Amino acid sequence: MKTLAKQLFPRLQRSRLWRAIGRCYVLPRLSIVRALDDPQARWRQVYGDFDRRRAGAAGLEAARRLEAAWIAVWGRRALGGMLLAVFEHGLFLSTMRVRPGFRGWGVGRALAAHAVAEGRRLHRDVWLVVRPENTPAISAYEAVGFLVQEPPTPVDRPEHDAYRWSMRASRPARPSAPLSASRPR
Ligand SMILES: CC(C)(COP(=O)(O)OP(=O)(O)OC[C@H]1O[C@@H](n2cnc3c(N)ncnc32)[C@H](O)[C@@H]1OP(=O)(O)O)[C@@H](O)C(=O)NCCC(=O)NCCS
Repeated sequence: MKTLAKQLFPRLQRSRLWRAIGRCYVLPRLSIVRALDDPQARWRQVYGDFDRRRAGAAGLEAARRLEAAWIAVWGRRALGGMLLAVFEHGLFLSTMRVRPGFRGWGVGRALAAHAVAEGRRLHRDVWLVVRPENTPAISAYEAVGFLVQEPPTPVDRPEHDAYRWSMRASRPARPSAPLSASRPR
């Protein structure tokens, strides 16, 4: 019985019905908050592996990652999250996760949209790297305006080769200087 449920659940998550549940019941009550601003520390449900109590360099690294973490919360639950760190070329989105039972509801897309909104607010490009076979992630990123970039890009790493794509959501162009008032003819 458990095995059957395990096989059927991913199919359900790709169905229109599941998507509609997300649209009607989940997304309207979903908020995206900074992990460390959440008094209920719901980040533990998503990033419980970032244990801040670890000693030494590992603890510092975990604290640094949590500083950059945003979580998507729905009621008492955190459904997913992402890290959004400032770097020299803009913002870098990484470690996007949606908890397996809550996938397909649009949470990934909502997080990606929030990253783009942060990029606009701070007037920065948003970059990420993704494996080309990760179609759920790529769909979510493309839906909110990320485009695959031709290498070389500032987020390429030698170990990525063809296994990772770089994607970017460009910041909007700065408003152009106001036109000089034209004289009425
Ligand atoms: C990638 C991920 C964050 C997407 O989260 P999500 O909340 O399910 O995404 P959304 O509901 O916004 O759906 C995004 C797309 O994925 C598709 N999708 C969702 N669940 C799926 C599944 N189980 N199988 C295949 N596609 C699926 C959706 O149909 C949607 O595509 P569409 O807009 O073209 O219909 C999530 O699958 C995840 O956590 N994966 C593991 C970690 C990971 O790969 N992170 C990305 C690193 S770059």
